[in-house]
Amino acid sequence: MSKKIILDCDPGHDDAVAMMLAQGNPEIELLAVTTVGGNQTLPKVTDNARRIATLIGMHDVPIAAGCTRPLVWPVEVAPDVHGDSGLDGVVLPEPAPLVNKHAVDLIIDTIMAHEPGEITLVPTGPLTNIAMAVRKEPAIVERVKEVVLMGGGYHVGNWSPVAEFNIKVDPEAAHIVFNEPWEVLMVGLDLTHQALATDEITAKIRNLGGPIADFTLDLFKFFRKAYKDAQGFEFPPVHDPCTVAYLIDPQVMETVRVPIDVELKGDLTVGMTVADFRAPAGPDCHTRAATKLDFDRFWDLVIDSIDRIQQDLA
Ligand code: BDR
Ligand code: CA
Repeated sequence: MSKKIILDCDPGHDDAVAMMLAQGNPEIELLAVTTVGGNQTLPKVTDNARRIATLIGMHDVPIAAGCTRPLVWPVEVAPDVHGDSGLDGVVLPEPAPLVNKHAVDLIIDTIMAHEPGEITLVPTGPLTNIAMAVRKEPAIVERVKEVVLMGGGYHVGNWSPVAEFNIKVDPEAAHIVFNEPWEVLMVGLDLTHQALATDEITAKIRNLGGPIADFTLDLFKFFRKAYKDAQGFEFPPVHDPCTVAYLIDPQVMETVRVPIDVELKGDLTVGMTVADFRAPAGPDCHTRAATKLDFDRFWDLVIDSIDRIQQDLA
């Protein structure tokens, strides 16, 4: 049975790959793509999502724009990592249509129109839309099967020494999402820093040939230089599709059940996701952290989705 998901994203080079994996894998039924201000401003990331949708033949998935800014803090974008457009380095076609509904309402309405336990939320940007949806319609909490989010980490940060970008830019939203009693899987930096687009991987994509393979290579070329210049990585970590990969094949990563909370007050630690590994998780623990990636399994899924999209477009 396919997994029904809503992808809430801020494309974003790695968000684009998450869209491709969701579109190109038959295990995933993508019910909506919603956008949130993050890697760039809301108009830019929404435009990017719409253009990627055209490129990959994502014709019947509603796309809705959401929150322009974090709940409390001013807007903070990531041009060093994603460029001025949010998706620098690629050429994109005309944008697909946008639905005339706020993303928060589309998320709520889609969840409420399905049976409890049917829909998984997959946020790959700041958690503003998801937090707003919870506050507007708390009944979604018990209807959602699970929240599988890219964000946070228990070991390192990338937007501060201890905080990851998606959590750091809207920590209050993250606090809401981690503290609702739904299942949350934190696919954080500990995991996604293993999802490197190495030379071996780019060679495999080059061997495929075709427009989506070329697009992916352009994405990775920009991302590689940005990650080298901004964070000293030899190869870029392709964070966001790890979430979708887990839903296609849970064997793609190891996870551990552990209580996780979000720091809101520390001068040096705001936005830190604090995981308490001191003792076995109690029966009420509803959060898990991703720990170890099966590198080959992950990249096989991504490469397979590129191939399938190209076959569907041909
Ligand atoms: C996260 O931040 C963004 O730059 C990426 O798209 C990813 O969602 C990694 O910290
Ligand atoms: Ca993202």
